[in-house]
Amino acid sequence: MTQDKKKQMAAVAALQYIEENTIVGVGTGSTVNYFIESLSTIKHKIQGAIASSNATEARLKACGIPVFDLNVVQEVTIYIDGADAYNPHFQLVKGGGGALTREKILAAASQKFICITDDSKQMDTFDNCPIPVEVIPMARSFVAREIVKLEGTPIYRQNFLTDNGNIILDIHHWVISEPIKLERTLNNIPGVVCNGLFADFPAQCLLIGTDNGVQTLKSKSQFTKF
Ligand code: 5RP
Repeated sequence: MTQDKKKQMAAVAALQYIEENTIVGVGTGSTVNYFIESLSTIKHKIQGAIASSNATEARLKACGIPVFDLNVVQEVTIYIDGADAYNPHFQLVKGGGGALTREKILAAASQKFICITDDSKQMDTFDNCPIPVEVIPMARSFVAREIVKLEGTPIYRQNFLTDNGNIILDIHHWVISEPIKLERTLNNIPGVVCNGLFADFPAQCLLIGTDNGVQTLKSKSQFTKF
């Protein structure tokens, strides 16, 4: 089965978790695009959505799904997003599409966070996965030097600005033994807006497209949310 088919299956499976009359947080990427397609089939049942990127906002609107500003919404019931990698602890690496900051805001602001993904993205550790870091442009070189001190190899993402007007450094060749600690350490570097480690903000549920259908994994520690 193709990776795209697996992504689509996971995206369709997420529909069953959408409650009537709620506002749905929507991530960014090709897996999420399949989810938006599915969500449009039940758009009359929900109030609308909050987008994690300009691209997602445009797609939601094109499907006729009302898009809300997070600042005017009291409660986001659920957040659905993809990932570049996931591990057995429901921790993620995100930001391949550069939308990591708004994605992390929505993951934190929502009651439940479901990650829709496919089995090619499973990793025991994130050592071989580039970690995107969103950085204020004037701090680019300073932040890069700080990351080198932490033994990462920062690569400037060329010709790319985030929806927030910032740049991305993708950090390669990192041995990541403690993802939560590294996530917090990165956030402490002045000039860093956000980083793509979602270890402090893991998913509570993984819907994984596989050759044998969609595998559902629910986090025990946060299972009460479901
Ligand atoms: C965007 C993301 C995406 O969720 C991640 O890159 C996965 O993308 P795709 O669904 O296209 O494989 O974090 O910032």
